[in-house]
Amino acid sequence: MSTQESTAPTTTGARAPRPRAARSRAAREKAPRISVIGTGYLGATHAVAMSTLGFEVMGVDTDRSKVDALALGKVPFYEPGLDELLAEQLESGRLTFTADLSRAAGWADVHFVCVGTPQRRTSHAADLRYVEAAVSGVAQHLTHDALIVGKSTVPVGTAARLRGMIQPLVRPGLDVELVWNPEFLREGKAVHDTLHPDRIVVGGASQPAEQLLRRVYAQPLSEGTPFVAADLPTAELVKVSANAFLATKISFINAIAGVCDKAGADVTVLADALGHDTRIGRQFLDAGLGFGGGCLPKDIRALMHRARELGADRAASLMQEVDEINMAQRERVIAMALEACGGSVLNRRVAVLGAAFKPRTDDVRDSPALNVAAALHLRGAQVSVYDPVAGDPARRTYPTLAYATSVDECVEDADVVLVLTEWDDFLRSDPAELASRTATPRIIDARGRLDPVTWRAAGWEFTGLGRAAA
Ligand code: UGA
Repeated sequence: MSTQESTAPTTTGARAPRPRAARSRAAREKAPRISVIGTGYLGATHAVAMSTLGFEVMGVDTDRSKVDALALGKVPFYEPGLDELLAEQLESGRLTFTADLSRAAGWADVHFVCVGTPQRRTSHAADLRYVEAAVSGVAQHLTHDALIVGKSTVPVGTAARLRGMIQPLVRPGLDVELVWNPEFLREGKAVHDTLHPDRIVVGGASQPAEQLLRRVYAQPLSEGTPFVAADLPTAELVKVSANAFLATKISFINAIAGVCDKAGADVTVLADALGHDTRIGRQFLDAGLGFGGGCLPKDIRALMHRARELGADRAASLMQEVDEINMAQRERVIAMALEACGGSVLNRRVAVLGAAFKPRTDDVRDSPALNVAAALHLRGAQVSVYDPVAGDPARRTYPTLAYATSVDECVEDADVVLVLTEWDDFLRSDPAELASRTATPRIIDARGRLDPVTWRAAGWEFTGLGRAAA
C-alpha cells in the first residue's frame, strides 16, 4: 500500500505543468470507474455530479430505501436541481445504485467515502462509526488497485488512523491508497457547489493519486478552480476550520446585534457597511436566530472536543463561546415572543413561519426555527408552523406541533407571528393583507429580512434582533 504523502502544502493553479512521465501515464489510463459510498446529501450529489462529468459511477448505501429511491430517479431530500440531473444521469446509463458494497469495491477504481459523521449522543465528539465501516468495508472487498478518497468531515487525525486500520484488511499485493478530499458544498446549492467548487483540497496524496484526482476533477480544474495539495491533517482541518470560521462570523454579528439593541443601532445597516470592506465581506453577516443544520453546530463541537484532546485550549474556548452566543439567540427569540404576548404565551396563538434550518432545503436537523417553535409549545402556546418544503420532516421530528399548509392559514388569528426561516414566500407577503388575518398584527423578524418601515406602515407592531434603531 502506498503511503507516500506530499509533506509541504502547496497551492497550484489549474493548468500547472505536470511531469512528462506522469502525463503520459495518465493519458494511457482509461477513465476511472467511481464508487460513492453513502448517498445522503453529500454522496447523492457527488454521485450525480461525477456522472455528469462523464464518469461511470456506482452509488452505494446500506439504506435500501435510499438506493431504491435514487435508482428510480427520486432524490430522498429536497435539493433544487438535483432531481432533474439525477434523471438525466440515470438515463445516460453511467449512474447506478446498489446496497452491495462488495460489488462496488470490486468494480470501481476510485471510492469516494461520503457517509455522515454526526455528533455522538453522549458527547461533543464526532461519531466515526459510519466512516470506519465504509472505509474498512471497501478495503476488505477490493479485488484490484484502488484509491480511497475520504470526503466526510472528520476530526483531525482520523485519516491517519484509518490508514492503519485498513492495512491488514487489504488483500496482499494490491496497491491501495487512502487520501482526504473534503467537501464544501452548501445545502440548497449542492449541485452548483459540487460541479463548480471554489477549491479542491486533497490531503496526503502520492503523485499517482494526485494525478488520478486531477483527472477526476479535470472539468472544474479547467475552469480555474484552485487545487490545494496538503498533508492529511491539514486537509482534514481545512474543512473543519472553514465551518468554524463561518460559525464564528455569524456569532460575531449576533454578538454585535446585542450591542446594537442596547445602543439603539441597526445591525443590518452596520453589516452592509462592514461588508463593503472586501477583507470582511457581506456574506455570513446576517444577524438573527443563528446557525443550525447538520454541519456547523456539530462541526464546531467536534472541533472543540478534538482541540481539547490535543491541548489546543484557546481554539476550544473560542468554539465554546461561538456555540453559546448561537444558542442564546434561540433563547432571545423565545423571550421576545413571551414579551410580545405580555409575559406568557399560555393559550396564545403563535404563528411560526419556517421550519427548515435555512431556506431552500427541507433539512430540519438542529433547526433553530423548530427549536423555538417547540419551546413555545412547551410553554403552553398554540403553535402553528408553516414551511414551503420542510413541513413533513418537521412533523416527523415534532409531531405535537400543528402544521399549516400556507402562510395565510398559519397566521390566522395569531397573537404573534415569528419569521424564523427567511423563505422568499414570507418576504414577499403583503403586510396589509396578512395583518387582516391575525388577531393582533405583531411580528418578530428573527432573520432581519423584513423592512420595518413597510410593516409598521401596514399596521404591524414590529421587532427584530439588533434593530432597535430601525
Ligand atoms: C455549511 C457550509 O456553509 C458548507 O460550506 C459546508 O460544506 C457544509 O456546512 C458542510 O459541512 O457540509 P450548510 O450547512 O448547508 O453549509 O449551511 P450554511 O449555508 O452554511 O448555513 C448554516 C446556518 O447558518 C443556517 O442555519 C443559516 O441560517 C445560518 N446563517 C448563515 C446565519 O444565521 N447568518 C448568516 O449570515 C448566514
